[in-house]
Amino acid sequence: MIESSYSAVPVSPNVWWVGARDWNVRNFHGYETNRGSSYNAFLVIDDKVIVIDAVKAPFMPEMLARIRSVIDPGKVDYIISNHAEPDHSGGLPELIAATSPEKVFASGTGAKTLAAYYDLAGITPVKTGDSVSLGQGTVSFVDTKMLHWPDSMVSFYDRDKVLFSQDAFGMHLAASRLWADECDPAILDYEARKYIANILNLQADRLISLLDALPGLDLDIKIIAPDHGPLWRRDLDKIIGIYRSAAEQKPCRRALVAYSTMWHATEKLARALTEGLVSAGIEVELRDLDVNDRSAVMTEVARSGIVAFGAPTMNNQMFPKMADVLTYVKGLRPKNKIGFAFGSYGWSGEGGKQIASELEAMGAEQPEAAFQVKYMPSEEDLLKIKEIGQKLGAVLAGRCE
Ligand code: FEO
Repeated sequence: MIESSYSAVPVSPNVWWVGARDWNVRNFHGYETNRGSSYNAFLVIDDKVIVIDAVKAPFMPEMLARIRSVIDPGKVDYIISNHAEPDHSGGLPELIAATSPEKVFASGTGAKTLAAYYDLAGITPVKTGDSVSLGQGTVSFVDTKMLHWPDSMVSFYDRDKVLFSQDAFGMHLAASRLWADECDPAILDYEARKYIANILNLQADRLISLLDALPGLDLDIKIIAPDHGPLWRRDLDKIIGIYRSAAEQKPCRRALVAYSTMWHATEKLARALTEGLVSAGIEVELRDLDVNDRSAVMTEVARSGIVAFGAPTMNNQMFPKMADVLTYVKGLRPKNKIGFAFGSYGWSGEGGKQIASELEAMGAEQPEAAFQVKYMPSEEDLLKIKEIGQKLGAVLAGRCE
């Protein structure tokens, strides 16, 4: 049986990783996961035996094999479901069937969500301050409602000082190494920021509040074990710092110029605008929506002080790809942005106005009016939009630390 090749990986004296790596997933409900992902799950063997979180349903044979490599699954006493989204709960019914646990714990909302998804009854609801004794150590629970689902919570095992943080402090990254300190820091930084931008940005203020509250919880955390990506045993401040700076989105000298184009008119404007921004000392990402999906664009939105969007008008509407991206970006509520709309048109010209209206709806300040040209930009038009880039760059530079 192929499953027998899977083993549990030690995390700490009493904790094992029993998750799965999804090397080839490239679409995670619309999020482009270029480096795959992992579904981390954990086995704690104390006097009592507990499993924390499950994996996506197709990976359950792998998870059960990893558990079996260190203990008979029938010895599992408890299961904790920190988060009911199916990437962590899809295998839960099979896990329960294989282990027959005495109790399954989830937040109150988690219990209801698991009942709705899988018709699971009898889940024991827990809240902040509740704990379960495993004999030598104790697992305590902290409610993290809306980070990023209503049911979300984290668990802390005091004996080995491990925080099981579910989606928080995670990233979509499949890596053969378990620990973050064994991975390329530049990849970790990018993938963590991408994850925060696309999964947590809507709740950035709650995330900051949780980060502020963390020291007061007095948990003496030595290991952070998220449900996606590598685990952290050193420099915990590094991942906490990335999460904080990504959530705060303080103005920085970066700009995103994202565009769609039909016959290269909007593209010419985008390039001239980029020249202006660069000449003002701003680092720019120029992204054509034909080759950049919405999650890549949102990653750049989150870490940019200027977000410029350009598209042609088509059938009296902004170009559909731009509408898709702006709907997505607006939903994630970026903060502290200077916005700018531009584009080209043939006979009506609603596109630029609609982009400006979307920027307004997402709270972006627009010091420059939408800039549109008919058919093709003239040399004069290109110089004008370059100048706008310089002006916007100067406004941003004045706000950066
Ligand atoms: Fe990884 Fe919100 O699930």
